[in-house]
Amino acid sequence: MKRTLTTLLATLACVVSFAQVKVAVHEDAPDQPVIPKEIYGQFAEHLGRCIYDGIWVGKDSPIPNVDGYRKDLVEAIRELKVPVLRWPGGCFADEYHWRDGIGPVSQRPKMINSNWGGTVEDNSFGTHEFLNFCEMLGIEPYISGNVGSGTVEELAKWVEYMTAKGGTMAELRAANGRKEPWKIKYLGVGNESWGCGGNMTPEFYSDQYKRYATYCRNYDGNRLYKVASGASDYDYNWTKVLMNNVRSNISGLSLHYYTVMNWGHKGSATDFDEDEYYDILAKAVEIDEVLKNHEAIMDLYDPRHRIDLLLDEWGTWFDVEPGTNPGHLYQQNSMRDAMVAAMSLDIFNKHTARLKMANIAQMVNVLQAMILTKGSEIVLTPTYHVFRMYNVHHDATAVPVAFSAGEKVSKAGRIFSQLSVSASKSDAVHISLSNPSITETKTVELEFDSLKPSNVTGEILRGKGKGLEAVKSYNDFGGKTNVEPAAFKDFKTAGRTLKVTLPPASVVVLNVK
Ligand code: AHR
Repeated sequence: MKRTLTTLLATLACVVSFAQVKVAVHEDAPDQPVIPKEIYGQFAEHLGRCIYDGIWVGKDSPIPNVDGYRKDLVEAIRELKVPVLRWPGGCFADEYHWRDGIGPVSQRPKMINSNWGGTVEDNSFGTHEFLNFCEMLGIEPYISGNVGSGTVEELAKWVEYMTAKGGTMAELRAANGRKEPWKIKYLGVGNESWGCGGNMTPEFYSDQYKRYATYCRNYDGNRLYKVASGASDYDYNWTKVLMNNVRSNISGLSLHYYTVMNWGHKGSATDFDEDEYYDILAKAVEIDEVLKNHEAIMDLYDPRHRIDLLLDEWGTWFDVEPGTNPGHLYQQNSMRDAMVAAMSLDIFNKHTARLKMANIAQMVNVLQAMILTKGSEIVLTPTYHVFRMYNVHHDATAVPVAFSAGEKVSKAGRIFSQLSVSASKSDAVHISLSNPSITETKTVELEFDSLKPSNVTGEILRGKGKGLEAVKSYNDFGGKTNVEPAAFKDFKTAGRTLKVTLPPASVVVLNVK
């Protein structure tokens, strides 16, 4: 019956939308959680041109670099204030043997990256290169350990190598140029252990987790935050079994959710019609329900919230750009991706009672990337701009909002709101708003508990052109910039209200004092 109704609504391509929306902003609400900056985290895998070309060009490269890291990327990433970076995978992590990536580069063994296009990996970017990158940019590293094809001893020694002050591993690290240990907080014990990480059942993996986690020790004041490999999107049984079986020596459980309509035919990143646009947005925001369902299971087993939920892979996944290696997952990034990013981040901002980290896949040249590179050129994607604009929410106190903006039913039958809003409070009240409609301008009246806005600044992100053309726009090499933030001025204040006009398909972030 439910299915029939959904199908009927979808056939009618039903949309109930209000051109004028009232949003109550409860900036005085007491006891609100902090939005952990880690939900603005990122992911960098040895996959395609993410590491090589993307982050690392090597010290002898003609591309301007800082100790081998491309300079333009370092500057762009600094602006983003990336809080945490997950590495070396992904599927790659469960075939990665860290000892191959230390010591003199010329002596490092080569491996075949069998998950990602059979590319030869020369291991020139390894533990030191990754951790020094994080240190340079003030990013918290998140190490993803090999459970699928590695040994307990191998993972235990990696932890010792990175974090112990004394012993053979520390001596080896010093011989490789790093005397002082690094501080490592986040340690993933396996990745997608239900799939590329070993094709395990949740019962078997639970036992493996306990074995591996036991021997990953805290050395010299370093305290590990151990993350168990979690479910893929709708696999609630995985979460149930893990929560039931693993009760100690665990700080977080992960979850992966990709916005993809059909794994067999994912569609183009830039060439899509209106239905595909709304289908993707509706699929992206379904993460709200997926998070709620996993959180409800976690609440049953862990009412005191000792174990966090970490969405350590998320984002859009489209067909690769024509002519590129299908195993390298290189896709363009349009204003549609920016809408996905903004609407997803608004959702994450409201789940922080349990959700403590999210890592978009991936930082550069792979999937929903912040940055694209080609030779010495760099492109900041629409998704990059959303992450930069949303920086204001990092570690700010959540501010509840309430509104009803009408709903649309996508062609695939998913119902989603016609406005996305989240808010937080630090030196000002920060409000992010997205209008997903391709055609409709929305007037939004924000009403505060007590704040009488006297100083309002804002930024808007939208594509060039009108209608579908605007949401299909993207930035490209050769200086083709079609999606860029601009100052936002389309608002009026009156007492405790702030009236904002949102053009179609736009993302706006306001700072209100
Ligand atoms: O991000 C690309 C891949 O997606 C990761 O390697 C894997 O964990 C997931 O399936």
